[in-house]
Amino acid sequence: MATMSSPAQRRLDHWHSLETAAQRLADAVEAGADTDQPAADFAGLIDELERYERFWLFPGLATLRRLREYLINWDAVLARQLASRAVHRLSEFGDAGSLFDLEVPLADQHTDQFASGRHFVTVLIADDTPEDVPQSLAAELRRLDVGGQEIGFGLLVVGSAEEAVAAAVLNDEIQACIIRRDLTLRAAVPLPFKNTFIGIGGQPTTDRAVNGIVCGRWIRTLRPHLDLYLLTDESVASRDPRTHELFNRTFYRLNEEAEVHATVLAGVRRRYETPFFDALRRYAAAPIGQFHALPVARGASIFNSRWLQDMGEFYGRHIFQAETSSTSGGLDSLLDPHGTVKQAMTKAASTFGARETFFVTNGTSTANKIVVQALTRPGEIVLIDRNCHKSRHYGLALAGALPLYLDAYPLEDYAIYGGVPLCTIKQTLLELKAAGRLDQVRMLLLTNCTFDGITYYALRVMEEVLAIKPDICFLWDEAWYAFATAVPFARQRTAMDAAAALHRRLTSPEYRAEYDAWRADMADVAESEWVQRRLLPDPDAARVRVYATHSTHKSLSALRQGSMIHVWDQDFDRYSREQFNEAYLTHTSTSPNQQLVASLDLARRQVDLEGYRMVRGAYQMALAFRQRVATDPLLGRWFRVLDVDDLVPAGFRPSGVTSYLPLADPDAADGHPEWDRAWVSDEFVLDPTRVTLYIGKTGMSGFEFREQILMDRFGIQINKTSFNSVLLIFTIGVTWTSLQYLLDALRRTAVALARAVDGASQADRALMRIKTKALTATLPPLPDFSGFDPAFRPSEHTPEGDVRAAFYAAYEESDREYVPLTEAVSLTAAGRVLVSATFVVPYPPGFPVLVPGQVVSPEILTFLTRLDIKEIHGYRPELGLCVFTERFLQRYAAEHVRRQSAPPKSAAQRDEQTLDPPPDPARSDAGFQDLARRLASGVEPSRGDSPPIG
Ligand SMILES: Cc1ncc(COP(=O)(O)O)c(C=O)c1O
Repeated sequence: MATMSSPAQRRLDHWHSLETAAQRLADAVEAGADTDQPAADFAGLIDELERYERFWLFPGLATLRRLREYLINWDAVLARQLASRAVHRLSEFGDAGSLFDLEVPLADQHTDQFASGRHFVTVLIADDTPEDVPQSLAAELRRLDVGGQEIGFGLLVVGSAEEAVAAAVLNDEIQACIIRRDLTLRAAVPLPFKNTFIGIGGQPTTDRAVNGIVCGRWIRTLRPHLDLYLLTDESVASRDPRTHELFNRTFYRLNEEAEVHATVLAGVRRRYETPFFDALRRYAAAPIGQFHALPVARGASIFNSRWLQDMGEFYGRHIFQAETSSTSGGLDSLLDPHGTVKQAMTKAASTFGARETFFVTNGTSTANKIVVQALTRPGEIVLIDRNCHKSRHYGLALAGALPLYLDAYPLEDYAIYGGVPLCTIKQTLLELKAAGRLDQVRMLLLTNCTFDGITYYALRVMEEVLAIKPDICFLWDEAWYAFATAVPFARQRTAMDAAAALHRRLTSPEYRAEYDAWRADMADVAESEWVQRRLLPDPDAARVRVYATHSTHKSLSALRQGSMIHVWDQDFDRYSREQFNEAYLTHTSTSPNQQLVASLDLARRQVDLEGYRMVRGAYQMALAFRQRVATDPLLGRWFRVLDVDDLVPAGFRPSGVTSYLPLADPDAADGHPEWDRAWVSDEFVLDPTRVTLYIGKTGMSGFEFREQILMDRFGIQINKTSFNSVLLIFTIGVTWTSLQYLLDALRRTAVALARAVDGASQADRALMRIKTKALTATLPPLPDFSGFDPAFRPSEHTPEGDVRAAFYAAYEESDREYVPLTEAVSLTAAGRVLVSATFVVPYPPGFPVLVPGQVVSPEILTFLTRLDIKEIHGYRPELGLCVFTERFLQRYAAEHVRRQSAPPKSAAQRDEQTLDPPPDPARSDAGFQDLARRLASGVEPSRGDSPPIG
């Protein structure tokens, strides 16, 4: 994260400045003008670039040396030509610019190797053997790179572990690293920034023989997708237990150059290969007679049509060539994968750090339902953030598991919810334990990161939860966070990375000692106090069972609806594989779209080979945008980007980090080490690529601003709004040009707003003040989850609800009615309990404000009245809220009480019941009193009533 203010980005800017400085110098020389200042600027930029350039192949230190010579010799015109060529080739080719001769115009050189799809990668060699000794590895590898292969490489040689790690971090074109085992630790010329890697936090190594391994470990941590090779002279290296985990392969130095060369190329090729996409392409190119049920396949029904020519023209031939329902001929079946789909999913698992990955062709909406169905049984309790996407709530309704809704912390000023605090989760589990219901708890469902970028400390959450409930399963909805695996600071907060780290920790001998000490320490601490204490799971009991769902299509290059389920479950085979397969088959179409599957395969390739570059770029753009809005007075009058301290309350931020705005000195070499600390320590962090633009001062609501300004005036599409904000999402699809366009649009809007205020009448100004106040000062409170009606609560001691029973109860038309919102307000004020019969889901963001069986609270009504989102699923504005009739509730409640008091049917059930503590009168809540009231006044269920459902 610290490198986001990045030397890599600054270097590019400096190269562009150097080109301009060379231009100015040459102009001054040609005009006979004063050259002192232009020459000083030019020399200063060369000095600055020399500090960093050793980490890139091109333009490289040699080019800087030549530029300096030109300066010394006053060859300003040659300097201008060289600088200009270097910068243009840098922009176009990056490190591959080193393939061409800078003295010769590009037009006179062969560049067709790129046109023919040849790829170029940079291979890092960390070796302190002088490069010019005969038969150095670099020299030998260069000799072997004779061209003609589909992958070419350039070698970047550094002489120390420190520089190797820095190069891997800074130079995103590096794809493979060959590291000498007994490598010098420190750079001969100090690094141009503070070394926050080697020797910081841990102990600097003193044993030269392990420096290469330390270096490999850092690179693996920071960029796990790279191929790492260890180079050693000693055969004992193979006995080092760490090497096989870190390095793809170990080479013994003598006479292995050809093998090294072939292995490096094979490694890159392996990551490039996309088994399913490659098979589909081969299939599309092969001559085929098709008699299966897909007329569009091969385009025959399109291109032979008289009326669908435009369809063929618009989509092109390939999409039809590749359309097929076939699962043979090199293709594979998503529903029973054994071939290329299976291989593609296995590769994805490795890229995303999962033990197993499953492709899903109907979005994360389906992925969530699959996991919920696979892991829960009817009647089991699932702890779930109420603000989770509706697919999870539907999943629970279908599966029959009982949601116990957890409230996220509210951000009332912006009408946004944060995440669920860890203490809330712990408190809930401890209460369930006290009520004897912990055995029923199956799963915890959270969203990471949230729509607005609130990101959990997944590792800490899972660790402490496992201390209370060691066999719980976790489902992390990472619909928005697939990209996070590409950069180290975000990756550590993903479910898969956290699961692997947790498993490593729980199985280490050090942890066992830590746990024993903790247990002794906690011996006298009552469980009721555990909420405030740091908890550690029992390593003998805790199981790491973690699932993550990704809308790959939302943040990576997959086609719409392309999603993945990642599994890191050490009990998957033992307990869940078959159920998972059933759930997968339940929800997956028997006609999955081949193009979606292929695009998931390709999205994986992109993460593997250029995820680091692209995702880092998205962070850089988001940070640049934040800075521009903060420092532009015109924009600042109307807009503000919400920062860390706006969205993450101080109590969740032990790091003390409050902002993503750059340091006062943008050239400060250290970047932002405090940001890195926040990402490893804070309970919640804000992902800076989720940019919430606060627009309260414009007098327009988020919805109005999105529709009238961004969409209608500028054609800028965004997704989510709140009362007074709009959410801008910086993905790998955002470009510097689109960023500039957005800034221009905001500036134009700011000018128009200023003009409107300037020329406004008294009345208009008053109106604007009222609107602004409504958006900034008098927002409706964010409603918490109000609670299930007691009729839908299986236990009177704990708050989980039977959403499935309520969902299906509402199928009976005569048992529900519509109540307009205004009437609902007066009815609840008069004491009637309204119970929702449906999900009510404003979209976006897509989480329910009401679920079936939930009591409609006055806060929810106020919130719904003020909501200006047009699309509210499950709510018909012309009719009102769909609620259960009073008559139904009375009948159902009576039935519920009868069910509750029915004698247990089996001995096993009787045993279970005696485990429940007797009802605690202090815990009996208003809901149950209300139920009793209702029953007392109610109608007895008659034979004519329809039976209770559920
Ligand atoms: C948190 C969350 N989970 C799941 C989904 C559903 O994902 P998909 O659109 O891929 O079905 C969404 C969609 O917005 C979401 O925001």
